[in-house]
Amino acid sequence: MRFSSTLALLLASPLLALAQYSCDPNVCKLPDCACATTTPPGGLDPAQVPQFVVFTADDAIQSYTIDAVNQFLAQRKNPNGCKPKMTYFASLTYTNYSLITDWYVAGNEIADHTITHMGSPTKEEVNGNLIALNALAGIPLSALKGFRAPLLDFKAETLQILHKSQFLYDSSASASVPVTDPNTNAYWPYTLDNGIANNCDTPGLCNGEPKLPGLWEIPMYAFFDNRGVVGPHLMDPWLRPSFLALRDSANGNNAPSDAATLAFMQKTFTDHYNGKRQPIGLYTHPIHVSLSYPGTTAKKSTIDMINSFLDWAQNHDNVWIVSNEQLLDWVRNPAPASQMSSLASFSCPAPTYDASAKICNGVPTSEDGTLARCGFSDFPFFTCYGCPTAVPTVDDPNPAQSAQTRFRVPANCSTTYWDPVEGKCLCNSPSCAFTDVARPIGPNDASYQGGGIGGDFKLLSDGSSTGGGSGSGYAPFNGAQRVQDAVVLWPILLVFLAAAVFGAVAV
Ligand SMILES: *[C@@H]1O[C@H](CO)[C@@H](O)[C@H](O)[C@H]1NC(C)=O
Ligand SMILES: *[C@@H]1O[C@H](CO)[C@@H](O)[C@H](O)[C@H]1NC(C)=O
Repeated sequence: MRFSSTLALLLASPLLALAQYSCDPNVCKLPDCACATTTPPGGLDPAQVPQFVVFTADDAIQSYTIDAVNQFLAQRKNPNGCKPKMTYFASLTYTNYSLITDWYVAGNEIADHTITHMGSPTKEEVNGNLIALNALAGIPLSALKGFRAPLLDFKAETLQILHKSQFLYDSSASASVPVTDPNTNAYWPYTLDNGIANNCDTPGLCNGEPKLPGLWEIPMYAFFDNRGVVGPHLMDPWLRPSFLALRDSANGNNAPSDAATLAFMQKTFTDHYNGKRQPIGLYTHPIHVSLSYPGTTAKKSTIDMINSFLDWAQNHDNVWIVSNEQLLDWVRNPAPASQMSSLASFSCPAPTYDASAKICNGVPTSEDGTLARCGFSDFPFFTCYGCPTAVPTVDDPNPAQSAQTRFRVPANCSTTYWDPVEGKCLCNSPSCAFTDVARPIGPNDASYQGGGIGGDFKLLSDGSSTGGGSGSGYAPFNGAQRVQDAVVLWPILLVFLAAAVFGAVAV
């Protein structure tokens, strides 16, 4: 999100509406309800609370963006010896599906960022993304828990869509007042049983609205430069000048200063660590920290600075780099930092399957030679699950397959064990039993459970639907209302153009 100074001021205003938030912790209890509060969950003393550093990335997934993220994560370990996991909010235009499968099978969280990168999205943008991620990247519907609004542009209706489509959480709201300020809105993740308590400047939010029981909000925690409440840096804090660098700009230097950024990031981290240990977040757009993306303007010194920050943060006791999904698992079942190493969500079990088998299962060495290349002229992509006849769109997120027929991940086999070529589950023992959920995200809100081979949505006898393949033709997604392609494509074109021209856009 681009912060104009007016917007920054707006977001940082003391939010009078907050007085209207009320939540009774005796009624609203974990694991499925939590009040918006700055105190750690479970009554834990902040000294016993792990300091979570949430790492997220947004937008299209390509080799460049995975490489960019890996610059910060691949070489690291959490205190239990496992590699850190992160959350990727995927939008699908220009996405290479096989890389999503790999990233998921490696233990990372994949979440929804709409198909075409649309702010205040329609239900079709949100739900179609789930269907396409399930069909072409093999991500189980139960694993697609989270959503972030492109441009962080969301309304009460957006949250209502998420609730209805059975998302576990949204992470689009911002904690825009420092933890050291008595009016801070840096709440631990909370449920919307009593409405939202962040982004109160958006009409329809706060004052107890919207009430969406069980839907979590994971606020995005801003860093603050020397200006404090009027100097928030939310996403890609390294892209915009800090206060110090702004002052320099009077002397003709308007570039962000890595040294100034490192200093204010450390200061904000310390405020969280020495306070109530609310999480902190590195919310990245990998394209802006890629040294290999064609035409990149990213600087090696910025990459080094971010790594210095993480090295420094990890030198503190009980610091964990995590995905949103891991954070939420802990918040719902809080345990003292001393017990972290025994918690399943933070462990890294080795998969038990025949590593020499050639199967398209998200493990790069196993799937070598088994991927299908879908040669669309705009952007060719790879997938394990068979090339569709057309690029997935809002109108048709799961097009029929072209020549070759592969089988999409069914509801009763996990991605790692599914052979999409043979249509066979490679493990049938109870130890790897898997059951996916069905969600009301199909055409006209039909319950959708994945599987099939693409094409029309096949209605099952119990009223639910799958990714069909009966060959009876395409049933338009959510009725007859079609979204004009031009309307959908313009914003993304603008984003790409702007990124190309300025090399410093963060959305
Ligand atoms: C897409 O993925 C394939 C296979 O994983 C890889 O060979 C290719 O380089 C990727 N291309 C991009 C642009 O991500
Ligand atoms: C999954 O369901 C299919 C169809 O109902 C069945 O043939 C198959 O044996 C099941 N697989 C497992 C691993 O349970």
